[in-house]
Amino acid sequence: MKIIKAKDYQEMSRKAAQILAAQVIMKPDSVLGLATGSTPLGTYDCLAEWCGKGDLDFSRVSTVNLDEYRGLDHANDQSYYYFMNKNLFSRINIDPAHTHVPDGMEPDPEKESKRYEELISSLGGIDIQLLGLGHDGHIGFNEPNSFFDKNTHCVDLTEMTIEANKRFFASADEVPRQAYTMGIGTIMRARKLLMIVSGKDKAEIAAEAFLGEVRPEVPASIIQFHPDVTIIGDAEALSKIN
Ligand code: F6R
Repeated sequence: MKIIKAKDYQEMSRKAAQILAAQVIMKPDSVLGLATGSTPLGTYDCLAEWCGKGDLDFSRVSTVNLDEYRGLDHANDQSYYYFMNKNLFSRINIDPAHTHVPDGMEPDPEKESKRYEELISSLGGIDIQLLGLGHDGHIGFNEPNSFFDKNTHCVDLTEMTIEANKRFFASADEVPRQAYTMGIGTIMRARKLLMIVSGKDKAEIAAEAFLGEVRPEVPASIIQFHPDVTIIGDAEALSKIN
């Protein structure tokens, strides 16, 4: 496990983007596992900028996102598909047909979970998975006490996650109560993991996840067992890690 300390959010974002860019340069048909949330926004800005300058080519890249709210369609401005399109896909030269997010409108959880796992396999697996860290240690929507081996599945969101995500909705009542997410098993099968973490409110959970005991109460702690994981955090987020 490599832990890279960046001085601030901008430097963290640039370093993460450099790793993703190197992946695309070395393997132009890479499969990138992507995340939503506030942490990756700066990383996506860098990728969009470098692509705009002609330094990066996404024409052969495929992407698979970690998760999607259940019940929100692509046109809903709170769906993760909409987020990805706005913050990355529409700004780079990727083929929209190569961008994949779980289908929040599929009513049958088993069907959608199976479809998404098969899709990832058919692409040859994920070359590098970008991850953010939830305040309760979640990755994707794998909340505390998730089974470590789970594939893509439908989850009930915890009160803490609903609370954290309500800032994007008119009220907490409008936050969907369920989501589709890659499981811990899906994430751990990615060939490389790239975790980014920012801000002092993540310092406690970052120390627990990266240095503490590996346990289901802290889902992100499982990444300690992955053979190729890079963590990039800003100084505030890594302030409890020497
Ligand atoms: C998003 C995701 C979540 C976030 C996590 C951190 O696709 O899977 O696990 O990475 O909630 O979110 P931010 O970056 O907003 O602090």
